[in-house]
Amino acid sequence: MSSKPVEKLTSAEAEKELDRLAQEIAAHDSRYYREDAPSISDADYDALRRRNAQIETRFPLLVRPDSPSHRVGARPAEKFGKVVHRVPMLSLDNAFDDADVGEWLARMRRFLGMKEDVEIIVTAEPKIDGLSASLRYENGVFVQGATRGDGAEGEDITANLRTIADIPLRLKGKPPKLLEVRGEVYMTHKGFEALNKRQEKEGKQTYANPRNSAAGSVRQLDPAITAGRALNFFAYTWGEISELPADAQSEMLQKFEAYGFIVNPQVRRCKTLTQLLKFYESIAAKRAKLGYDIDGVVYKVDSLRLQERLGFVSRSPRWAIAHKFPAEQAETVLADIEIQVGRTGKLAPVARLKPVTVGGVVVQNATLHNEDQIARLDARIGDTVVIQRAGDVIPQVVTVLLEKRPRNARPYKFPDRCPICGSHAVREEGEVDRRCTGGLVCDAQTVERLKYFVGRDQFDIEGLGGTLIELFHNKGLLKEPADIFALTEKPQKVAAVLAEHRVALSEERRAAEGKDAVKAKTKKKDEGEGKQVENLMAAITARRTIGLDRLINALGIRHVGETTARLIARHYRSIDAFLDGMKAADALEELQHIEGIGGVVAEAIHDFFAEKHNRDALNRLLKWLDVQAMAAPSKTSPVSGKTVVFTGTLEKMTRQEAKARAEALGAKVSGSVSAKTDIVVAGPGAGSKLKEAQKHNVQVMDEEAWLKLIG
Ligand code: IVH
Repeated sequence: MSSKPVEKLTSAEAEKELDRLAQEIAAHDSRYYREDAPSISDADYDALRRRNAQIETRFPLLVRPDSPSHRVGARPAEKFGKVVHRVPMLSLDNAFDDADVGEWLARMRRFLGMKEDVEIIVTAEPKIDGLSASLRYENGVFVQGATRGDGAEGEDITANLRTIADIPLRLKGKPPKLLEVRGEVYMTHKGFEALNKRQEKEGKQTYANPRNSAAGSVRQLDPAITAGRALNFFAYTWGEISELPADAQSEMLQKFEAYGFIVNPQVRRCKTLTQLLKFYESIAAKRAKLGYDIDGVVYKVDSLRLQERLGFVSRSPRWAIAHKFPAEQAETVLADIEIQVGRTGKLAPVARLKPVTVGGVVVQNATLHNEDQIARLDARIGDTVVIQRAGDVIPQVVTVLLEKRPRNARPYKFPDRCPICGSHAVREEGEVDRRCTGGLVCDAQTVERLKYFVGRDQFDIEGLGGTLIELFHNKGLLKEPADIFALTEKPQKVAAVLAEHRVALSEERRAAEGKDAVKAKTKKKDEGEGKQVENLMAAITARRTIGLDRLINALGIRHVGETTARLIARHYRSIDAFLDGMKAADALEELQHIEGIGGVVAEAIHDFFAEKHNRDALNRLLKWLDVQAMAAPSKTSPVSGKTVVFTGTLEKMTRQEAKARAEALGAKVSGSVSAKTDIVVAGPGAGSKLKEAQKHNVQVMDEEAWLKLIG
């Protein structure tokens, strides 16, 4: 990396460096994401990206169409075929301490309507730190193997998996006709060391840890290379299956063994929280001696019948949880505290640290969460602090080492004004965060909202990254989302803003290179810029057609991210139904009844629509858009697409469970009866809703009839 300060760069130098950085960062992305073999530290990589961003901020006109700031990570390698998982490969919710595990058990009991003393048998298994794979067997023969990918679609790595001795090519005994066995491909510590020694001897890339080396080995294009690597496989769950050969997780594992798989020998059945926690402690104590990496323990409800009743919340099952081992820690110096203002006005304190390695990763920023946290720690600039990181979570400052405090360190005073717009920053009662009250007048919030709007999971407008948003905002072209689309009607203005910056740029160039060189280059740039404006207009226009889920996510409503937005979109299906729903008197109630959406989230959505300026801004935006409705769930069940209301006491299951099941079958569960209701399930004690049903001539049935109907 060039060491010249960004302020001192001429535009010619900047252009050259951006070109080089784009290439270099793309190469690192590819090594990291595609080859599992990063060749620089995270800190050095971050530094490259930061330098790229700094140069782009100073020279917005030089932002390349292929700039690394427009990409979060490299796209998946194209080299393997794709495999769609018929049963998605889910992730697990995490528990970080004993209390979380207790709460998980309690939550399940509440969901199932069980008393506190009812036993739930749970299997406890080590959480293997490798990469998960799905193996498909038809008539006992291994036909296809795939990586997890994004859970819905993975890569076809059949040829490579065939070379792993732990993976049977033909099953023993009487397996189901169709069986997808899922588990973890991993490398033992011994295998890992031997591989790295060999790689080193041959002058090849060594791997950072066993997980990376297992991932890298499985994703070799040449299966002969995979065959030369000591890989192992533990089977722990299943995907698509023609018939279940057992009715408990523990029995399924025994079946897997009978079919010829290796199952982790540590797995235990536990009956109480105490037993689970004891298992966790004993595994933690054995961790170093196991011979392979694990990063926690997975608990799963043993009974498959109960698993089915418990079902899923968004991407993870209610019936399982991962109890993670504690994070890794390190000591370093708190060099500064910086306040960042987010799109909701939240003032987020970020610790700038002297770079330090924690668990193999260089860390130089950590979160300090909020004002109270800084006060609780009494963190002062210059202090020596302990930071920790766990998995992909943002590192955090956990303690301050008072004995190492410099004499002159002063207590940190949290600002009560927004560092960007100067508005008062206030803490509402009961809130931990201080928020800028600038709202629409705070540039930080406006810009962050717009950046979020064009983000990858929202409108994903190619070429319109943070730098251009800031530039257009500064020039008064952008204030709200609708303005982005209005840009397409003023290409001359957009070009003028760019041209204005050109003046500044060419002046600099003149100083650097002399007039003639400038003329030649300016001409070439003109053509380049014309194209840039054209491409940008095309990219914006392309997004005038947008899915309802993306639109809802892009609104930037507090607590509403990709997952929640999808739940809302699936529930209302079309933008008109959604807007009607928000206008209805029972808007809040209906939101609260969507599976997976809690009270706080429902209120945030409701509050958003209660504000006239939000509704107005959305209406201005909608003039530009063709919002695509969500497809109806493909599952056909006797109740799919029907609106159902539960009332009175249910005897076989809790209200929560009844609702979750109905929704899993494609029904919409509502809290109130209207002419739009299809079925009312009434238990003993049903009152006004039952009357309402009769008034509207809605079909009424008791719990038993309902259970029969849904099978
Ligand atoms: S069960 C629906 N069991 O952890 C449950 N997962 O965060 C599916 N993992 O992607 C997973 N050991 O790669 C399960 N004994 C175990 C596991 C395990 C490791 C990994 C797996 C999964 C991730 C979930």
